[in-house]
Amino acid sequence: MDVFGKYRRVLITAALPYANGPIHIGHLAGVYIPADIYARYLRLRGEEVLFVCGSDEHGVPIALKAMEECVTPKKIVDRYHRIIKKSLEDFGITFDIYSRTSSSIHRHTASIFFRCLYDKGKLVEKITDQYYDARARLFLADRYIIGTCRLCGYKYAYGDQCESCGSSISVTDLLNPKSIVTNTLPEMKKTKHWYLPLDNYTKWLKKWILEEHKEWKPNVFGQCKSWLNAGLSDRAVTRDLDWGIPVPIEGVEGKVLYVWFDAPIGYISNTIEFFPNDWEKWWKDSSTKLVHFIGKDNIVFHCIIFPVMLKAHGGYILPNNVPASEFLNLEGKKISTSRNWAIWLHEYIDEFPGQEDSLRYVLIANSPENKDSDFTWKDFQIRNNNELVAILGNFINRVSVLTHKYFGGNVPFREKLTSLDQCVLNDFFSKKIIIENWLEQYRFRDALKEAMNLARIGNKYLTDTEVWKIADKISIRRATVLNVALQMIVNLTIIFDPFLPFTTAKIRKFLHKENLKWNQFGEMDLLKAGDQIDQLNLLFVKVEDETVEKHVRKLFNTKS
Ligand code: 2FM
Ligand code: ZN
Repeated sequence: MDVFGKYRRVLITAALPYANGPIHIGHLAGVYIPADIYARYLRLRGEEVLFVCGSDEHGVPIALKAMEECVTPKKIVDRYHRIIKKSLEDFGITFDIYSRTSSSIHRHTASIFFRCLYDKGKLVEKITDQYYDARARLFLADRYIIGTCRLCGYKYAYGDQCESCGSSISVTDLLNPKSIVTNTLPEMKKTKHWYLPLDNYTKWLKKWILEEHKEWKPNVFGQCKSWLNAGLSDRAVTRDLDWGIPVPIEGVEGKVLYVWFDAPIGYISNTIEFFPNDWEKWWKDSSTKLVHFIGKDNIVFHCIIFPVMLKAHGGYILPNNVPASEFLNLEGKKISTSRNWAIWLHEYIDEFPGQEDSLRYVLIANSPENKDSDFTWKDFQIRNNNELVAILGNFINRVSVLTHKYFGGNVPFREKLTSLDQCVLNDFFSKKIIIENWLEQYRFRDALKEAMNLARIGNKYLTDTEVWKIADKISIRRATVLNVALQMIVNLTIIFDPFLPFTTAKIRKFLHKENLKWNQFGEMDLLKAGDQIDQLNLLFVKVEDETVEKHVRKLFNTKS
């Protein structure tokens, strides 16, 4: 593997989405599209890649939702697992496996992982006082208690944080605490749990991250640094709950593994499910490069807690990189599932059939890679119409029309290139290395921008050469220019493949040119004179003002 130095294969994970609701554009922009671009790029290069994901099906929110709907948690996760899986497939996310944490393989894998830590004495047992909602028969996480903040008097402060004065608080400091599940006064009860003593690993983490991974994105590195400098405390890895993976200790009942303990192990169990006999090389061989794609709210779990779990267990590799995204806002406001301030993927698919790549494009072009970004319907329209339709689509469409008009749909022959042709082609092909560099640094937004510049070069070439103005019916120059333009198009399908896979598949179909590899970019004879090309249907649909208005109105009329 040339570009990956010491590595021979790449294991890509994408954060497991919670199966307690459908997924929206924020998920796609922050995690699944970046991960998919990376996976597609590496596969195109011929690298050995495994791309794993699945639904995260445990945890209190799912148990509470089930309670609210008077159904079993299994019913809830079955419903959303199906919806999420389909949405991700619809947008062309090419997981090798999309599984779920309620599977028996996962339950077994997570149990033996926990048991290994327990048996090795890596966990600390503690009895603490915790709030208990007797009516719901539920121990309550701090988030599920509200009360009055001692500092500012706000009546609806959460047990872990006051959203009014912003202070982080301890649940026992709240005045008039109430369970948000039943609105009753919770009682204090003693309970036993097992903790991961994170602080024992601080020295090791500081060396591993702060010294050996200075190349991590500044947002990721910065967050790790502040966690490490603030000091790490013990983290409970079990919970009092009946939905989840039972704590595998004799005599323990009514307790499960904490969802954030079992979820990242999901990456391992998905690999085992996919490669039952060959999974270890992906997790235990130092020539595997492990990359976790996540959103910024998951940084501590993937950069600190999961690595500590892996280290405590022993025998596992650690992530080489964790390219976390910041957040995507929507029309200036934070996306909120509970307030229904979101664009749901299944709704987009229904409303914009066949236009998956338009959304992929806009979300990458405006990706929250280094800082929060904002999706607006207006920007969606502008980028779709001015870039996809007017540049990429227009270039390909013009070449297709001219090839049919003058050469009956056959690729024309090419004679000697002029210095203009040479110059344009040099410029065009020189972008490959720039795009590769961006992709390998997880800078997909910059990579896409450069890819679009290739389409701009093609468009300008066609405009500058004006082959439609040549009077002669048979013109060597016209044949040469169209041959060059067609070679550019087939090369564009290689570069755009990781970003706009539906579009590149359509173009290749029309060119009758399948199975191209990344390293074929730069070849000038991917199409031979005489090859037949089809009539091209429009690649991108213009988004009209009324469509924008309709969707903005729908959003602002949303009631939670
Ligand atoms: O934040 C979330 O949506 C979590 N379900 C992500 C889990 S990622 C992993 F560790 F599995
Ligand atoms: Zn307050």
